[in-house]
Formats: sequence, C-alpha cells, structure tokens
Amino acid sequence: MTRWYAERKQDYYYREAKKQGYRARSAFKLIQIQKKYKILKKGCIVIDLGASPGGWSQVASQYASKVIAVDLQKMQPIDKVIFVKGDITEDEIFEKIGEYVEEVDAVISDASPNITGNYSLDQARSVWLCQNALKIAKRFLKEGGNFVCKIFEGEDYPEFLNEVRKNFRMVKPYCPEASRKQSSEIYIIAKGFKKYERKN
Ligand SMILES: C[S@@+](CC[C@H](N)C(=O)[O-])C[C@H]1O[C@@H](n2cnc3c(N)ncnc32)[C@H](O)[C@@H]1O
Repeated sequence: MTRWYAERKQDYYYREAKKQGYRARSAFKLIQIQKKYKILKKGCIVIDLGASPGGWSQVASQYASKVIAVDLQKMQPIDKVIFVKGDITEDEIFEKIGEYVEEVDAVISDASPNITGNYSLDQARSVWLCQNALKIAKRFLKEGGNFVCKIFEGEDYPEFLNEVRKNFRMVKPYCPEASRKQSSEIYIIAKGFKKYERKN
C-alpha cells in the first residue's frame, strides 16, 4: 500500500468516526475485531482498559449490558458505561473494578503508553501494560471468557503471546484495517479463557 493510500485511508476513518458519532477512529478497530472474531455477545459484561476518550466503550456498549471503562484520563459519560479512573498497573485497580463486577465475559485493552519515540522503551512499556491487562483478565474473566489487547511488536512480544496461549483456547494476532499502516501495533485476540484447566 502506498503512503498516499494509507493516509487517505486514515482520513477516511477519521471522517467516518465524526459522521457516525464515535469519539475516536479507534472505534473502527474494535468494530473490525468484532466482525471477524465475535468477541462480544449480546448482554455481556465487559472491562475496557485504556478506555478514554471512549470509542471502544461506545462500540462495546452496543452489545454489553454493562461496561467498566478504566483509564488514567477522565472520560465523558456513555450510557451503560461505568467509568473508573485509575492505573491498570497498580494493585488498587482490582479493588476499584471489583466494586462494580465480580466476573465478566470480556476484557478488552487498547491501552498505550505515552510515545517517547524511543521504540524499545515504548515497546517495553506496551508489553508492561499488556501484562497488567492479562492479570486483570485472569482475575475477572469467567470460564470461556474473551480477551483482546493491543501490543507493539518487538522483542518481548513472542513471550507475552505464549503467556496468553497458556490461558486461552484460541489465540490469534490480528491487524485491523483501521490501524495505521506505519504502526507496529498488533491486537492479540484470545478466546475461551481456561479458568479451571491446568496451564502448562
Ligand atoms: C489509544 S488510547 C485508547 C483509545 C480508546 N480505546 C478509544 O477507542 O477511545 C490509549 C489510552 O490508554 C490509557 N492508558 C495508558 N496507560 C494507562 C494505565 N497505566 N492505566 C490506565 N490507562 C492507561 C491512556 O490514558 C489512553 O487514554
């Protein structure tokens, strides 16, 4: 794909987000993930990590009966979405989320570190966020639940992918069309949480 075409495509998602009332063009990434992998079921309960400004929560709330949206940054209200201000890398987040849900059907994370431009640092921080998202998923997911998380490709990525594979029955890396072409982000799609099975 030429750079010209890639930029046109991004403009397209930006304009579509405005037209369809989504707060961020990233909403289309979740729409594309959902279309391909059906990670959200009608009436499900979802934890959305790194949720602000709320594009993914808007999409998730079209399926879910309840969404717990977590972010360091505040977020404007959305119907059926409970906002929790907090840091997903800190232990107190478990208690904060636990005030609203005991078990959920899906944990989705689009959390990103602040980009410094030093790729190995940014990549390591992205993996750190993913490890914490996985910890939250392991605490709150029901047997058979689903997990999605954004990660920057790089050194620690294969090891993290293996860790996810130990905990879920189906795991696939996926690049939605709506991701920027120059971007090294990948979404790990994991279905069928093994809550009770032995993990090797
Ligand atoms: C790409 S944005 C998410 C966009 C969102 N999915 C949407 O569709 O509107 C990444 C978010 O991750 C959040 N984030 C980064 N580190 C975090 C942390 N440690 N705890 C909670 N949120 C974090 C940022 O504040 C930012 O809002």
